[in-house]
Amino acid sequence: MLLGLNPGQWDALRDAPTTIPDVVEEILRHRSPVSAPREDAGMPRYAMSDIEVEGVRIPADDLVLLGIDQANRDEDRFPDPAAFTSRESNPHLTFGHGPRSCVGAPLARVELTEVFGALVTRFETFGLAVDVAQLTPRTEQLVGGVAELPVRWTAP
Ligand code: HEM
Repeated sequence: MLLGLNPGQWDALRDAPTTIPDVVEEILRHRSPVSAPREDAGMPRYAMSDIEVEGVRIPADDLVLLGIDQANRDEDRFPDPAAFTSRESNPHLTFGHGPRSCVGAPLARVELTEVFGALVTRFETFGLAVDVAQLTPRTEQLVGGVAELPVRWTAP
């Protein structure tokens, strides 16, 4: 979807497929598959002890919802965070962090790199077949995404 909205980046990928792993990281950061469908949702955790974060006291055993999207838009880490662009450093939290982070992350990265490598080789152009405003967000589950993603393409 992001590449469909940024046709120039599709051309750039076709010209330089070695940049695909970096583009995959930016896709994961910018439009994470675990993007919470609602602002009051997030990755659940329980505080193991009394802690204080930015002046807010969180008592032990309280439920905390971690905003991965918000972390991935942290201006201190990601200059111009709303932009879908190439970045020198991309320490996103899409796969979580620490001992319970995603064990499937290496597999997901390989799969995404392979998929985009195959797509840019096979299709000269590739993009959304409808206006982005017509896409229906999925809101009935923990992860986000859209109900359907109609695309159009041209082959060389
Ligand atoms: C783009 C694809 C994926 C994303 C964005 C993703 C994201 C995540 C996130 C955010 C967590 C929770 C991390 C935390 O609690 O701190 C997680 C956990 C997990 N993921 Fe993934 N994941 C992806 C693909 C996969 C794949 C392909 C597999 C397996 C083949 C997988 C297996 C798991 C497992 C087993 C856990 C639980 C780890 C634990 O609790 O110790 N994930 N993932």
